[in-house]
Parts: sequence; C-alpha cells; structure tokens
Amino acid sequence: MDKHSYIAVFDSGVGGVSVLRELRRLMPGERFYYFGDSANAPYGKKTTEEVRALTLAAGRKLLVDRDCKALVVACNTATAAAITDLRERYPDRIIVGIEPALKLACDRHPGGTIGIMATDVTLREKKLAALMERVKRDCTVIRLPSPGVVELVEAGKTETAEAVALMEQILGPYAERLNALVLGCTHYPFMKNAMRQVVGDSVELLDGGEGTARETRRRLQEAGLLGEGPGELIIENSSGDPAKIRLTQELLEAK
Ligand code: DGL
Repeated sequence: MDKHSYIAVFDSGVGGVSVLRELRRLMPGERFYYFGDSANAPYGKKTTEEVRALTLAAGRKLLVDRDCKALVVACNTATAAAITDLRERYPDRIIVGIEPALKLACDRHPGGTIGIMATDVTLREKKLAALMERVKRDCTVIRLPSPGVVELVEAGKTETAEAVALMEQILGPYAERLNALVLGCTHYPFMKNAMRQVVGDSVELLDGGEGTARETRRRLQEAGLLGEGPGELIIENSSGDPAKIRLTQELLEAK
C-alpha cells in the first residue's frame, strides 16, 4: 500500500462530513476521498440486507477501483449492517467503522439517564444491544427513534424552524430527564443548534466523530501509512447533483 494514496470516507450521504472534519483536523497532511451515497439515502429505513449490499458496493469502489489505502465507514447504519462483511472481504486493508459514543456517555454520567438517537437499522441491530450490555452498568439508556432527521440534513435545512420543531417532537418529552444525548448517526451533529434549543445547555451531546478519527490515525500509524503531504480533498456524490457537493462543502465549514 502506498502511504500517499487516499483515505476513503464513506456515508449514506452528507452526514459523514461530521467525521471527515475531525479526520482533517487530526491529519491535515492526508488526502481524503469522500463518497456520499445520497442517491440511496436514507439507509436507516432500508432492510439490513439492502444496507449491506450498498455498503459492500461502496467498499469495492473505494478499496478496489480507487485503491484507497484505508476506508472509514463514517455511517453508524452501514457499520452496524456491514463492517464484519467488509473486514472479511478485505482482511489486509485498514477498515474503521463508527459506533454510537455510548461508552463515553456512561463513563461520564454514572447512574445517569442517557438518550441515544439513531436510525431504525442501528437501533434494531444486535451490535447496539451488545454495546449497551457491555457499557451501560447503572445508567438508564433510552432509545430515541429519529424519523425525518436525515432527510432534513440532506435537504440542507438544519438551521430552520422545521429543524427545531422536529427536535421538539423527538426530544421534548425527555429533555428534563437527560444527562447526556448520544448522537448515533453521523448526520445528527449538524442538528446541534436545533437540539440545544430543546434540551438546553446542561445535557451533554456526544458523537463518535473524534474517536473514529483517532482510531483511524492509530491504525495508519501502526501500519506505517501516515501521509505527510499538503493534504487534499475529493468529494463525490452518487446523486450526481452539484447542489449535494456544495452542501457537503458547506457542512464541512459549518460551526
Ligand atoms: N449517517 C448515517 C448514520 O450514521 C445514516 C443516515 C441514513 O439513514 O442514511 O447512521
């Protein structure tokens, strides 16, 4: 493997940008190839089999056709459905997945009440049940299905009254009880401003972007594949819509 080749970052759409920005912050000298599959988003409403097939197709494109040196699956849903199959198929490649930051939340709020927002696929897959079992201890974990959020982010409507109304619907009934909220989908960090208007400032919002970036750097370092170039970014979106590329760039710069 060539350390000068690209690190692929894959998501069902524009959400993986919340991971990409952490990756770039940590490894500014790397070349990144971001592929968003917006033509097929949202993944979270599909069957596990459908998500697996789409993720394996993206993996093939990025690891075989584009020969990227590593693949970051910047999508909790795709990770839950297909990370094991990807690793079996490409045992010699660096493949990093993302999982909800539930351990961090439980470690930081012993005995607390933790909400976890995620897509339907992530919430029903056994990977999450196993993670909960492992890290929950004396915490109360509340699963929060979040229909409509991914669609809103894909439409670029994160800073709107519609976004706040949707957060009110999902989080309003629990706002008083939560100590922390785990954002178990890479699209959700872009809704933080809307979330804050509902849950206030005292609830800790946690996502897996930074941890995933650190794990990617660790794996590259271990393999002697860390790049040292000036850094570069290619953005591709399966929708073929230039507006999606612009939205990807905007989200990358968003605060
Ligand atoms: N961004 C994806 C995740 O992290 C899911 C979005 C979708 O449903 O397509 O789970």
